[in-house]
Parts: sequence; C-alpha cells; structure tokens
Amino acid sequence: MAKTEADQSQISTDAAAELAEVHAAIRTCQLCDLAATRTHTVPGEGSLTSVLMFIGEGPGREEDLQGRPFIGRSGKFLDEMFAAYGIDRRDVFITSVVKCRPPNNRDPLPPELHACSRYLERQIELIDPRIIVTLGRISMQRWFPGGAITKIHGQIKDIGQGRIAIPFFHPAAALRNPPWRKAFEEDMAKLPPLIAQLQEGESPGSTGRGRRHQK
Ligand code: URA
Repeated sequence: MAKTEADQSQISTDAAAELAEVHAAIRTCQLCDLAATRTHTVPGEGSLTSVLMFIGEGPGREEDLQGRPFIGRSGKFLDEMFAAYGIDRRDVFITSVVKCRPPNNRDPLPPELHACSRYLERQIELIDPRIIVTLGRISMQRWFPGGAITKIHGQIKDIGQGRIAIPFFHPAAALRNPPWRKAFEEDMAKLPPLIAQLQEGESPGSTGRGRRHQK
C-alpha cells in the first residue's frame, strides 16, 4: 500500500521528522477538555508513505488505555476486513479526528473537533495519502458536512489535491447493524481495485497532477 518507489523517494526525512513533532505535540496537548480525562493520547499509527489513510472518530476505552488506534472490538473488525481484502494494517495509516477519548465514548464536541483539527490536517499534509477512508459520521462530516452517511457511504468523492475520500460506516456501527456490516464489506471491496489503479500509475478520482510527492 506504499506509494510507488518514485513517490517514496520524494518523501523527505523532514516530513517524517515533522510528523514525529506533530505526534509529540499531540502527546502533551492541553488544547481542549479531553486532556483532563484521557489516559493516553492516540495520535495514530501505520505507514508514513501510505496511499491509504483511515480516519475514525476518536479513541475508545482500549485505545485510551494503550495509546493505539482501533485495537478494541471495532479494531478487531477492521483487522478482519483488512485481512479479507488483502490489506496489511502496517501498510496503511490509521488515526481519528480527535486524538483523546471523549468520556463514555460520547461524540466529540465542536470545540474538541476544532482544537484537534490542526493535528489531523498536518498528518494529512505530511503523509499525503491518495485515498482517505472516513470511518463513521463524525469523520465524514469533516469533508461532507450535512451529508447522510446512509446515503453517501461507499461513494468515491474527489476532495482535491489529488485525493479521493470514501465515507464508510464506523466499524462499531457495522458491528451493531447487519445491513451496515454488509455495506461496510461492500465498501471495503472497492479499495483493492483503487489501490491497484494507483499502483499501475492511474489516478482514481482526480488525477495526481500537482501533487507534492510527484514534483
Ligand atoms: N473508534 C475510533 O473512531 N477510533 C479509534 O481509534 C477507536 C475506535
């Protein structure tokens, strides 16, 4: 799931160092009230050269305890889906829109989303994925405010800068609701052909024109 060799060679050590700084800033962040109740921050993990970034809503209990994204029940389901569709978790980057657990897994509040957005934006700029998969309504709303996940899940959307976004149901919602689980699987099935297209040098959705990595 890494970028092509040519792309990878363009990923500077500066970008990796800056990403490490962003993650260090997240670990000591006090920008919103979630700092008071978290155990660990969860900046995200995976390949810094991935074409594919998964963005969830916010850490749950297990993630808060261990500081790693999607390692609880939702994460197990995501891992099953990755295995079913030939995606190696180590080859993608996984994060969430907020990096600290909202108490009792409530939805993140607007000031929390606002405070944390600087980190997500920088992660996207530095990793520069071609495909962003939003997991759940809150993450979808970052790109499609007012969109209904039941209507737009699985749709491939050009979001500019050589990127496409595909809204998925949240894995926790898929686990609760069998039709949504089926939809999640169907949406996941769209990823391997898109990745293959990228590996063959084609651009899914918008073209790769003007991308930083291809300069
Ligand atoms: N749900 C999310 O949205 N993110 C995680 O890291 C775990 C569960």
